[in-house]
Formats: sequence, C-alpha cells, structure tokens
Amino acid sequence: MNKIVIAIDGYSGCGKSSTAKAVAKDLGYTYIDSGAMYRAATLHFLNNFLSPSNPHDVEKGLKSMEISFHLNPDTLIQETYLNGLNVENEIRTMRISNKVSEIATIASIRKELVAQQQRLGRKKGVVMDGRDIGSVVFPHADLKVFMTADLETRAIRRQVELLEKGELVALEDIKANLAERDRVDSSRAESPLKKMEDAVEVDTSNSTFAEQVGKIVHAARQIIDKQASYAGNH
Ligand code: DC
Repeated sequence: MNKIVIAIDGYSGCGKSSTAKAVAKDLGYTYIDSGAMYRAATLHFLNNFLSPSNPHDVEKGLKSMEISFHLNPDTLIQETYLNGLNVENEIRTMRISNKVSEIATIASIRKELVAQQQRLGRKKGVVMDGRDIGSVVFPHADLKVFMTADLETRAIRRQVELLEKGELVALEDIKANLAERDRVDSSRAESPLKKMEDAVEVDTSNSTFAEQVGKIVHAARQIIDKQASYAGNH
C-alpha cells in the first residue's frame, strides 16, 4: 500500500495534536509533533539562560541541543527527549507556552528544526502537525489540513488538558496566551501561520473528536486510493 504525507496546521489549542495522533493511529502512520520540537528548544534556551535575540547564544543553543522522539512502550505514545532526557511533560507547562512563540520567530532555529522535520518525513507514512507544515516543511504534502476553532472553545479544552496534568490556570490567562500566540505565529516574518489554498479546512468548534478525525481519515483514504489506482494504470 502506498503511503502519503499528511500536514496539519492551525491555531494554538484547536486539537491539532490529538487529532493528528488519532489519524496516524487509524492509518498506521507515524505521528510527529513539530510544536514539541519548538517547545523543547525553548526549554533548552531557558535552562541554559540563552537569549534567542543574541546570535551567539542562538548558535551555542543550536550546537548543544539534540531533540528526539521515542516511543513509550506502555502508552505507545511518542515522547519528546532533549539531550537524552524525557521532557514530554515539562514542555507542556505554561512556563514554556509563554516563551515558545518568541523562540519560533528565530530564522536559524526554524531552519534547523525544519531540516530535522523533513528528514523525519522522508519515508512518508507520516502525519505532522504544526504551523508551517503545509507551507514550508512539506509544501508537496499529499493532504493538507488547516484546523480552526473559536478562542473560547480552545481555551476550555486547554484548561482541561492542563488540569489533567495537575496545573490549574485561569481561563482568562489561557485565552490571553492562545490569542497572543496566534498573533505572533500569524504575523511573524519567518514562515507565518496561514491557510494554504490547497488545504482542507476543518473547524472543530462544533464537531466531536470522532467527526474531525473521521473527516481527515476519509480525505486521506481517498487520496491513497486515487494514487493506488493511478499507479495501477501506469
Ligand atoms: O503546536 P504547539 O502549540 O505545541 O506549538 C508551540 C509553538 O511552537 C507555537 O506557538 C508556534 C510554534 N510552532 C511553529 O512555529 N511552527 C511549527 N511547525 C510548530 C509550532
């Protein structure tokens, strides 16, 4: 069976990661969380007191940072490692969420992480989510999805997620963080978040999780079948 590349982009907190994970599971594909890489880079810079606005610090940070993903055998979830340490939980805290957009505006950091992401997707059979996957990382992705949801819905979902991890954060603070990240992510000079013309838009404000996953899996299967029949005829 031929395998495809699926790029999922969209605003912060509209369920990209959980949707992408479920789509990957359904298709038997690998899920790659590109945001986790920007988050791990942020943790590295914070822990080492490196400033993203100082080019020497950025060079030093990039040289001393190794990000990888490893499958947790109990949960079967890919977890993020920074220089050999599991940082999966730490990178999801508000401390990192409040700084990550700043790190993600730096061209040389993006260049390095995009190159790693492209290597990870080389074998196809990949679902990757982020902000520039359909535009920069995989501009020729077989399926591009742009996910949206209204701010209130996104903030409530994020609050529940944080609570499940033991962090109680006021809804207003979460809303402010999401809105600010949307603003920075969409207006930055380097690879801003934008909906590509060939992307399928999925608004998750009023859909169930199963519906949004089903819609993407359906679109993916149509492309896989079309490619298979094209290959069969040529
Ligand atoms: O998907 P996330 O919320 O975990 O991403 C964290 C931040 O990383 C987000 O605010 C913007 C940045 N990011 C990016 O600039 N490009 C990507 N491909 C993925 C994430």
